[in-house]
Amino acid sequence: MLAVCAQLSVVCWSLSVATVTCTESTVADDTGHPREIPLNFIMDLNQVKNFSELFTKFMPDINMNDAQKLFATTGFQNLNRQDSEIKATLIPKPAGCSVESQIVSLKDTDDQSLYYYPMCTHVNRCGGCCGHDLLACRPTKIETFNFDVIVLQYNGSGKLEFKSRKSVSVDQHLKCQCDCIIEEENCAPLQVYNPDECRCMCTNEEDRQECNDEYGLRVWNSTTCICQ
Ligand SMILES: *[C@@H]1O[C@H](CO)[C@@H](O)[C@H](O)[C@H]1NC(C)=O
Ligand SMILES: *[C@@H]1O[C@H](CO)[C@@H](O)[C@H](O)[C@H]1NC(C)=O
Ligand SMILES: *[C@@H]1O[C@H](CO)[C@@H](O)[C@H](O)[C@H]1NC(C)=O
Repeated sequence: MLAVCAQLSVVCWSLSVATVTCTESTVADDTGHPREIPLNFIMDLNQVKNFSELFTKFMPDINMNDAQKLFATTGFQNLNRQDSEIKATLIPKPAGCSVESQIVSLKDTDDQSLYYYPMCTHVNRCGGCCGHDLLACRPTKIETFNFDVIVLQYNGSGKLEFKSRKSVSVDQHLKCQCDCIIEEENCAPLQVYNPDECRCMCTNEEDRQECNDEYGLRVWNSTTCICQ
């Protein structure tokens, strides 16, 4: 199990607690199914800017001419508009983690009788995919705007009445990056945080071993690090 794991997961090598890491890792696969992409590999992939970088960095064995052919045959070829029955296949522009214009609500109350003008506006927020369910595109730098809005109240018979002016604070994101969803403060008392794997790991490895030795009588709960 350990040997297999060490082969499969690059992460294992970089950690001193390799045994814990490996046995908890999900990549070990004896059945020949494709291996799960390691988190740190995904993090590197997230830096890729375009197709040519993807090929040169991560598929060094493929030569660039072949890559271009592959690229062309999966895309441009079908852009030929002669046969209008066939929908053009477009090459998608990557939507990696970055700031993008998003719509945010300026209404900071649930009161259904109030109407804010304007109701919403555009600000820059983090968006884009991070390629792994343990990662999310999060802001690393934020600025706060105070937007001046007008609050109106419905008077019950087809009219609005002026209620107030109001300043509504809204965060705009200036910089984003793919970060771990699980953070150090999410770890239980018996756990330590492993930032390379975005996971909390149990520190009481011996207890886990003992628990597994009980052959199904009790199960190890890796969330609480308790044998139950
Ligand atoms: C792809 O991205 C790399 C790195 O950002 C850049 O040097 C290169 O010019 C880009 N190539 C194309 C075809 O846009
Ligand atoms: C609502 O406003 C309209 C126009 O000002 C007025 O005619 C109506 O009486 C008001 N209704 C109530 C319930 O105050
Ligand atoms: C582990 O314990 C937590 C908290 O008591 C519980 O919510 C969770 O379902 C347990 N997990 C397993 C696999 O038993």
